[in-house]
Amino acid sequence: MRLADCHNVADFRKLARRRLPAPVFHYIDGGADDESTLRRNTAAFDDVDLVPDVLAGLETVDTSVEVLGRRIALPLFLSPTALQRLFHHEGERAVGRAASAFGTYFGISSLSTVSIEEIGATVTAPKMFQLYVHRDQGLNKSLVERARAAGFDCLTLTVDTAVGGNRERCLRTGFTSPPRITPSSFLSYARRPQWVFDFLLREKFRLPNLDSVYAEGSRTAMSIGDYFTKMLDPLLDWKAAEAIRLAWGDRPFCLKGVMSVADARRAIDIGATAIMVSNHGGRQLDGSRAPFDQLAEIVDAVGDRLDVICDGGIRRGSHVLKALATGARACSGGRLYLYALAAAGEAGVMRALGNFRQEIERDMKLMGVAQVADLGRNHLRPRAPTR
Ligand code: LAC
Repeated sequence: MRLADCHNVADFRKLARRRLPAPVFHYIDGGADDESTLRRNTAAFDDVDLVPDVLAGLETVDTSVEVLGRRIALPLFLSPTALQRLFHHEGERAVGRAASAFGTYFGISSLSTVSIEEIGATVTAPKMFQLYVHRDQGLNKSLVERARAAGFDCLTLTVDTAVGGNRERCLRTGFTSPPRITPSSFLSYARRPQWVFDFLLREKFRLPNLDSVYAEGSRTAMSIGDYFTKMLDPLLDWKAAEAIRLAWGDRPFCLKGVMSVADARRAIDIGATAIMVSNHGGRQLDGSRAPFDQLAEIVDAVGDRLDVICDGGIRRGSHVLKALATGARACSGGRLYLYALAAAGEAGVMRALGNFRQEIERDMKLMGVAQVADLGRNHLRPRAPTR
């Protein structure tokens, strides 16, 4: 299987599986507990069908949307995700270049493997910095200041990590950051010599945004579940979120992980300009509702006052169209580009974004809509229950 054979996210996933040691692959691929939320995030899209308008007489369509203070060329952007240089040695650099080429937003995690400053100086795409609020308040303050100074367009505060999710695949494989090769995982790594070569001989793995304060995650191996539980501030609340918004200033401020109407309203009260309706890709609270299932009621309540972004489960252009027709401003996702990054670095992410662009354009033409704003609830019907 080659990159040219990757026509969809499932194909990239297969290729990623062949390139990555099993513990690293399962870190990306897995969810919490029974992974029912992970599965539902994508399955939710199948419970609503698209109803097209025909004979629209369209040759071109405009896929751009305005979100998080910027006009982006695609209604789909790349959510911040951690540890990217473990998936491909170019990590965030590759993802940032691909996002720039496609004119879409791109996020880096607090746990990114390329620094805030380097990304700020080199990536031309609209940029979001994702903040994990740590127990060290000085670190939090400095991360916000650094992201601001580096010219990030948006600060995104993740709000669904009060403790680590129960990621049983990681418990079984022993995945940690940095990865630790143990007697039981030795074979999984030995089977991927190219990955081992990249890990050992290229730029040393580190979490440059954090490693001046914490060894955990950079030099001291720790599972991501433990990292959340031990390193993040469990006292993070609405008041603290508002203080972060004030420290960030007047640029777009987004809460990632809001799932209820009541919390979406509170997000407005603390001055958020956007929310990502998200359950962290099914990696935190298993049994949590899917973002797409929860989208309509949130859009109806707050969609005229902040940008509502549908994050999670998206595997097809048609999924993006269903979320936009429901009223999302844009969609975002992690695995949808991470498999591609693992499969083939920058070329992989370019191809993944190219596939999505083609699907979104094709489906807009088949739906008979010239621009994203023309999509509406009139284009959707709940699927009749099958007997
Ligand atoms: C995860 C984090 C780091 O879900 O966002 O693994």
